[in-house]
Amino acid sequence: MTTIRNIVILTGAGISAESGLATFRGPDGLWEAYRVEEICTPQALARDPDLVLDFYDQRRRALGSVEPNPAHRALAELDAAWPGELLIVTQNVDDLHERAGAKRMVHIHGELLSAWCTACEGRSRFAGAMLDRPVCPDCGCVGTLRPDIVFFGEMPYEMEMIEAALTRADLFVSIGTSGAVYPAAGFVRLAKAAGARTIELNLDRTTGSGWFDETRTGPAGLLVPQWVGEVLRR
Ligand code: OAD
Repeated sequence: MTTIRNIVILTGAGISAESGLATFRGPDGLWEAYRVEEICTPQALARDPDLVLDFYDQRRRALGSVEPNPAHRALAELDAAWPGELLIVTQNVDDLHERAGAKRMVHIHGELLSAWCTACEGRSRFAGAMLDRPVCPDCGCVGTLRPDIVFFGEMPYEMEMIEAALTRADLFVSIGTSGAVYPAAGFVRLAKAAGARTIELNLDRTTGSGWFDETRTGPAGLLVPQWVGEVLRR
């Protein structure tokens, strides 16, 4: 058995599904009710800001009625206990990983609880409604705050740091993501090229399952605590 020291974990909407947050794709997914290009692009924000701001205001409000589930808690436990390098890269814009206690993590697609001012470029913690056109706490401008969400066509956050972590990874685990969106969908190949073992944990097999050494199917709330238990007992 190879020694594992450095772990990179990629998470997607599926890890928050059992907390009660909708995923994007699939029968009940958000992109079934909305067209992604009407919401999640800079052009959509320019064309119909109320529609886009309201969509993210609804998602932000929903955070108030959900809690981290056993999968988030197990990853936080692994983060606290793991002596080697560990990085949780989440595509999720919710705050459930950090509420569970995870520390070594990055939000590659931004955060609902952050606002980005297009006038001063400042980022500020934000829990209200952008439809109300709040004032930017940094520069005082009105109507210039947008959700700090990485729209399609924009550059995901922290890519250099993530790619560096992937080149050092001994183990790469992908949890609850369809693998439909790049660059995250390509992380498994970067990790594999660097010699990491690769595992996918998902409710079902995905179009990317063939890239992984192993795919386990089932709910994240069950599979993730099991897998964390195995890693910590090694
Ligand atoms: P998707 O909605 O594309 O995929 C969710 C995945 O979670 C699917 O593969 C499901 O099988 C799986 N899943 C659902 N419930 C699960 C459960 N209880 N346990 C384990 N797996 C479960 O969501 P993402 O892959 O996260 O981007 O989507 C990637 C990006 O597309 C998002 O970050 C978002 C979206 O457009 C932006 O908004 C920029």
